Amino acid sequence: MRLQNRTAVITGAAGGIGKAIALRFAEEGAFVVVADITETPREGGTATVDAIHAAGGTAAFVRCDVSVNADVEAAVARAVAETGRLDVIVNNAAIGVDTPLHETSEADWDRVMAINAKGVFLGCRAAVRQMLGQEGIDEVRGRIVNISSQHGMIRAPNDIAYGAGKAAVVYMTRQIAGDYANHGIVCNAVAPGKILTGKTGPAIAPAMLAYSQARTPWPRLGRPLDVANAALFLASDEATYITGENLMVDGGWMAN
Ligand SMILES: NC(=O)c1ccc[n+]([C@@H]2O[C@H](COP(=O)([O-])OP(=O)(O)OC[C@H]3O[C@@H](n4cnc5c(N)ncnc54)[C@H](O)[C@@H]3O)[C@@H](O)[C@H]2O)c1
Repeated sequence: MRLQNRTAVITGAAGGIGKAIALRFAEEGAFVVVADITETPREGGTATVDAIHAAGGTAAFVRCDVSVNADVEAAVARAVAETGRLDVIVNNAAIGVDTPLHETSEADWDRVMAINAKGVFLGCRAAVRQMLGQEGIDEVRGRIVNISSQHGMIRAPNDIAYGAGKAAVVYMTRQIAGDYANHGIVCNAVAPGKILTGKTGPAIAPAMLAYSQARTPWPRLGRPLDVANAALFLASDEATYITGENLMVDGGWMAN
């Protein structure tokens, strides 16, 4: 029970990787705030909060668009209402538009940046504001885990807005880690490689899956639980002297 008596806000936790992180954190004892625009998992199946309750864990859903500051603050407030503190935020919500530069509309660019970059800024800011006012447990006032991507470091095929937003996440992770280390706030990122979730469309087109497997030395593509276990480690007391890191969970993609 590595997160016993801890609270965690996880954005985009209705489905996919966010749901796996929420279930994993709840298994380890956390009270989980599922912050998403919908309760319905994209891939179908049980809503995250119901799945956590069925497994004996504790959780609450807060409808939250991460590009709207009031929504993000309300999600943090829900965690604080439970125990008086926010121990962990996982900024996971993100979208892609699957277009190259010359086909990317200004509106699409703005929407991706509003969720993938500004949403992470708002999540980190709300978390840091809360964490600065709470006592540390051992050395740590709170922890931030941002979900980035290998495509924050190398080009995102046919999705310049997504890649630019993820590069911003990698940057913010380092800046926040450096700026708030003295205040006992730990900030890291997890960079998934190709993870099979409930995504439809270009993400699972045969050519895209073949490209991803060709880039991935490990003989399978990733699972949401692969990412959830890494997020759990960075959210736990085991990872205190690790900050500003962008942990690849990519089957070796970036080593290839
Ligand atoms: N799946 C992959 O291969 C992969 C690879 C690298 C990085 N990632 C990253 O992992 C994270 C999760 O990806 P996924 O594959 O599970 O995606 P997904 O599309 O399956 O799930 C994303 C979740 O975010 C929610 N969401 C969308 N817009 C939101 C908003 N404005 N506010 C709050 N919630 C919102 C959706 O409702 C959904 O529940 C993302 O940050 C993504 O960029 C995924």
